[in-house]
Amino acid sequence: MYVCLCKAVTDKTIKQKVAEGVSSMRELKMCTGVGSQCGKCTCQAQQILHNELVQLSGNNHDLAQPAA
Ligand code: FES
Repeated sequence: MYVCLCKAVTDKTIKQKVAEGVSSMRELKMCTGVGSQCGKCTCQAQQILHNELVQLSGNNHDLAQPAA
């Protein structure tokens, strides 16, 4: 699904960028251009970024758990 029509950025692209280490809207904007034109997509992009970071930290947390 397209999140940013101006820069043709999809939710998949944002998820991919988070997996590659992007952790802020500023970084996301720098590497994809999301939100850099009309800005209408910023809120949705931020939400996807946040959800991915939460999910990622949850996964890392699971990995950090000692084996039972
Ligand atoms: S839709 Fe993303 S900058 Fe316009």
